[in-house]
Amino acid sequence: MAEKRKSIHGIWSGRLAFILAATGSAVGLGNIWKFPYIAGENGGGAFVLVYLLCIAVIGIPIMMAEVMLGRRGRRSPVNTMHALAAEAGASRHWHWLGWAGMLAGFLILSYYSVIAGWALAYIFRSAGGVFTGATAEGVSAIFDRLVGDPERLISWHTLFMVMTMLVVARGVRSGLEQAVRYLVPALFVLLLILDGYALASGAFNQGLAFLFTPDFSKISANGVLIAMGHAFFTLSLGMGAIMVYGSYLPDRTSIARTSVTIALLDTLVALLAGMAIFPIVFVNGLDPGEGAGLIFKTLPIAFGHMPGGALFGTLFFVLLVFAAWTSSISLIEPAVAWLVENRGMTRVQASVLAGVITWLVGMLTVFSFNSWADFHPLFFVPHFEQATVFDLLDYLTANVMLPLGGLAIALFSVWIMQRNDSVEELDMGDGAAYRLWHFLVRYVTPVAVIIVFLNVTRLVDFGSLLGLAE
Ligand code: TRP
Repeated sequence: MAEKRKSIHGIWSGRLAFILAATGSAVGLGNIWKFPYIAGENGGGAFVLVYLLCIAVIGIPIMMAEVMLGRRGRRSPVNTMHALAAEAGASRHWHWLGWAGMLAGFLILSYYSVIAGWALAYIFRSAGGVFTGATAEGVSAIFDRLVGDPERLISWHTLFMVMTMLVVARGVRSGLEQAVRYLVPALFVLLLILDGYALASGAFNQGLAFLFTPDFSKISANGVLIAMGHAFFTLSLGMGAIMVYGSYLPDRTSIARTSVTIALLDTLVALLAGMAIFPIVFVNGLDPGEGAGLIFKTLPIAFGHMPGGALFGTLFFVLLVFAAWTSSISLIEPAVAWLVENRGMTRVQASVLAGVITWLVGMLTVFSFNSWADFHPLFFVPHFEQATVFDLLDYLTANVMLPLGGLAIALFSVWIMQRNDSVEELDMGDGAAYRLWHFLVRYVTPVAVIIVFLNVTRLVDFGSLLGLAE
């Protein structure tokens, strides 16, 4: 057995700390902001079913693989892949996986921070009583005014990036790890209150039917890719975030049990959010395919009409910001860990550098909602004619980079790494559970990712593209 490596960045205090941190990373805007709006845009039930399937057969096994690689490497993803490839006698090019993940992390955080800024703004809107008694039109107008103003978006985005860098600069053990212990349960409670409101709204069944009755005529090949991409996104997989968290995991912790727990919690939050939002959508005659503004145009209506709504609304957006906060730190941690390891920076220097870069890239998203709202860079590509820069960034990262990262993680874990090494690191024996994992990661994940990609590329009619170029 190779001598156990140690992380220079410290280690979690135990299994619970890791569960809290990884759950904090997983539960975020993806569950509450993104899941409902992409489910709405892709027809509901069938999309949700594909998403759940992807969580079970791709998400959980890949999470185990990613944690396993991280714990065995005990360094930033770039250096972990370097070390593990050397250990397996494989090409040193595997460290590109770490680089691609760092790039994906920057790109995701750049827009994630802007959206988290919306949630920050909504804390103050709620607290000020702006939503009390507001109509659906009134709430939509408030949202449009916010995103139509680049200066406001930049201010909130700046505040959120500063918050993120402050925590990242402080290191692994202090700070938010502790906060998750209270925040995730509190978020649950507020979602349940919102579900109670939805239950009384008169359209609860319609909302449930939308979310849970699969109608496969409503989902496209592209919709399947979006569902799969979201399974990676919501569990924070495919870019090294969970790998770097795994690198701080104590040796004896069960990777399998931990991964299943995190995936279940994460899925529950998303479903609770969906069940709160769609009844409100239907009872107010809104469009489920409304897009990225969906929760910001629906939930305030509920808060505006329930007793104590201003308080609950404020609390809800505070919790949403915290959920986003505990996610954003994991998006930048791989880059920060690498800067500390390879560039000799302190955590503070590394955080500032990474934060400034991300903040700048965030401008692409800021302007996508106002000055550049009518700029559609891929107007000549079917399915993307209407996409803004933000839409493309989101699509490229969540639906292309993360699944490809996941594919590479899968291939490395079972085709490159020695079987003995994964048995040892997963530490659950060599029985049925291990074999199921091995089978899923060896065959099911790669085949699923490849099939979904091939189906989507078929969508793009290259002939007509060439025709257009003539
Ligand atoms: N999972 C988070 C969410 O659902 C977002 C996130 C954090 C993420 N770290 C990640 C997504 C790493 C992809 C990769 O909001």
